Amino acid sequence: MDYMGNAAWWDERFKNRPLHIMEHEQRLEEDLSFFKSRKTILDVACGDGRNAIYLARLGFEVRAVDFSIEALRRLNHFALEEKLNIQTEFVDLSENGFTNSAQTYDGIMINHYRLPKNLYVNLMDFLNPGGILWVNGFKKMPKDNPNVKESDLLYDEDFEMIKFYHLIDKKEYQYNNQEFVRYIWGK
Ligand SMILES: C[S@@+](CC[C@H](N)C(=O)[O-])C[C@H]1O[C@@H](n2cnc3c(N)ncnc32)[C@H](O)[C@@H]1O
Repeated sequence: MDYMGNAAWWDERFKNRPLHIMEHEQRLEEDLSFFKSRKTILDVACGDGRNAIYLARLGFEVRAVDFSIEALRRLNHFALEEKLNIQTEFVDLSENGFTNSAQTYDGIMINHYRLPKNLYVNLMDFLNPGGILWVNGFKKMPKDNPNVKESDLLYDEDFEMIKFYHLIDKKEYQYNNQEFVRYIWGK
């Protein structure tokens, strides 16, 4: 997982990105019905916030965590510009857990970040009863993105330690000739 866990690599990447918000994850939009009647969302490894901003515009209260200072700086800039209710927090997921806040959430989303499987149990502690965990990512190596590694792909085994929770839905799908998988777990 050379580039993925390398904060300096991500800072450089976000620094060189034009200062506008990227399109949100299409799958998230298609899954909005799963988020209905939920209010508070934790966006884990949020990047510069394309999904956090999308949900905040829809009225969700979002906390967004990442270890890239540049990503969080951009997200704060975009949120300020649009007066959106997004709390950002610097968190290195490989070191100090998910958030220093004791808050719990109605929904937790992880998009294109493969969380080490032993951390899912702790993550579920931040979910309110009835809440959902939404995880989306590559199922197969994308042909046009040399950065993505085998170790970044999502597998059913990633969730073996939270099997006692309820798998509400699993979807394998194609988008732009790439293969993805999305899991929704319920608490
Ligand atoms: C492929 S991007 C996905 C960003 C966002 N979820 C999206 O869908 O646009 C992966 C993100 O994971 C973050 N990341 C990688 N390793 C991390 C770690 N150990 N702790 C926190 N964030 C990390 C990177 O900074 C980057 O923003």
